Amino acid sequence: MKKLFVKTYGCQMNAYDSARIADLLAPLGYGAAVGPEDADMVVLNTCHIREKAAEKVYSELGTLRVLKEEKAGRGEAMLVAVAGCVAQAEGELMLRRAPVIDLLVGPQTYHRLPEMIARISRAGGKALEADFPALEKFDALPDAGARGLSAFLTVQEGCDKFCSFCVVPYTRGAEYSRPPEAVIAEAKALVAGGVREIVLLGQNVNAYRGEAGDGKSWSLARLCEALAQIDDLARIRYTTSHPRDMDDDLIAAHRDNDKLMPFLHLPVQSGSDAILAAMNRQHRAEDYLRTIGQVRAARPDIALSSDFIVGFPGESDADFEATMALVRQVKFAQTFSFKYSKRPGTPAAAAPKQISEGVKNERLQALQKLLLEQQDAFNDAAIGSTMDVLFEKPGRGRGQFVGRSPWLHPVHAEGKELIGKILPVKIIARTANSLKSVLE
Ligand code: 5AD
Ligand code: SF4
Repeated sequence: MKKLFVKTYGCQMNAYDSARIADLLAPLGYGAAVGPEDADMVVLNTCHIREKAAEKVYSELGTLRVLKEEKAGRGEAMLVAVAGCVAQAEGELMLRRAPVIDLLVGPQTYHRLPEMIARISRAGGKALEADFPALEKFDALPDAGARGLSAFLTVQEGCDKFCSFCVVPYTRGAEYSRPPEAVIAEAKALVAGGVREIVLLGQNVNAYRGEAGDGKSWSLARLCEALAQIDDLARIRYTTSHPRDMDDDLIAAHRDNDKLMPFLHLPVQSGSDAILAAMNRQHRAEDYLRTIGQVRAARPDIALSSDFIVGFPGESDADFEATMALVRQVKFAQTFSFKYSKRPGTPAAAAPKQISEGVKNERLQALQKLLLEQQDAFNDAAIGSTMDVLFEKPGRGRGQFVGRSPWLHPVHAEGKELIGKILPVKIIARTANSLKSVLE
């Protein structure tokens, strides 16, 4: 058997794509490798969102080049593929800069990997694939096998919002929603394979507008309602949302759909209206706060999560203070925060008044301190309460298991064969990143 090692960078969308790449290559006889050392093929599934993404990939490629040469010395071959957004953005430049690469596939084309592998093994040389329509990609994929108890399911890709700091609209292209029937069929297949929780994925997932066979357009709320009819599916989540697309019916679904979990990741990026305008976010701070108010009215216990960028070009002390004020007002359960970093080709990269690294660091530290206090307070508030946990994997200690609460707290408990079960536990303590519990 040949062995495949996929290294994933970045977002959940990429983790999902990596799992599909493994599915796709299984029929060619590729099983899982432990690392690049014992792999016949290495795929770097790259992401452009993180800082210095391309540099990290090039550095990894340097390491792989040495490994490939060592293997060649022993008469062993190793294929190196780069997939994802960095591959898309760098294109042929990447093949020239890193000749170790055998295959380059963009986010829309990884379903062609088997064919590309066949082609280079027949003819030798390098393979490069650019854009293909999203529909072809989805239809060409094999049905996802069950992988664990919680599975990602992509329902929407791309983004038309063009936030001025972001590359996604350029690398992932225009918004596209899968037809609801295809999503429901895939969800049923996942559940038949043992999945209990489905996380609906999309760069702009709440902008979902899937066209059904009868020509009707489905919202995300309607899709969640249909998925809730699948008996053995216990939990539905979705990510990532845009504040502008937080429609009334989705908010109502948080009240009415029991399987929709009380957790919302809704990036705000900044609390300053001037910065939000410069970011082209198409909402003001008060719009965000109003939406949060509506969501909380529908589901008072909902846990809130967000993304923040500090040091966007032109951000003054007062702008940053507005972000801190918004955070104090909302109280988040869990968050991601970043220093602004230039993405080539985006409007903000060319903006005047770039902020110094020193100021960015100070602001990020202050924001993260506040966010961590809120996260700890959120987790502390759980102590003493009883909640249902979906146990997903063994913990570190003997007889220990880890799972998630409805609010996405990681929860530990001791017991026998808990994996796959949803059980009530009593929370007894908080550690740095998780909760300790005992079975009820
Ligand atoms: N600089 C810093 N953070 C960014 N993000 C996206 N682009 C940039 C950038 N140029 C962050 C945003 C987004 C998250 C996925 O990554 O906060 O919501
Ligand atoms: Fe990027 Fe903005 Fe689209 Fe999110 S909404 S993917 S940040 S352009």
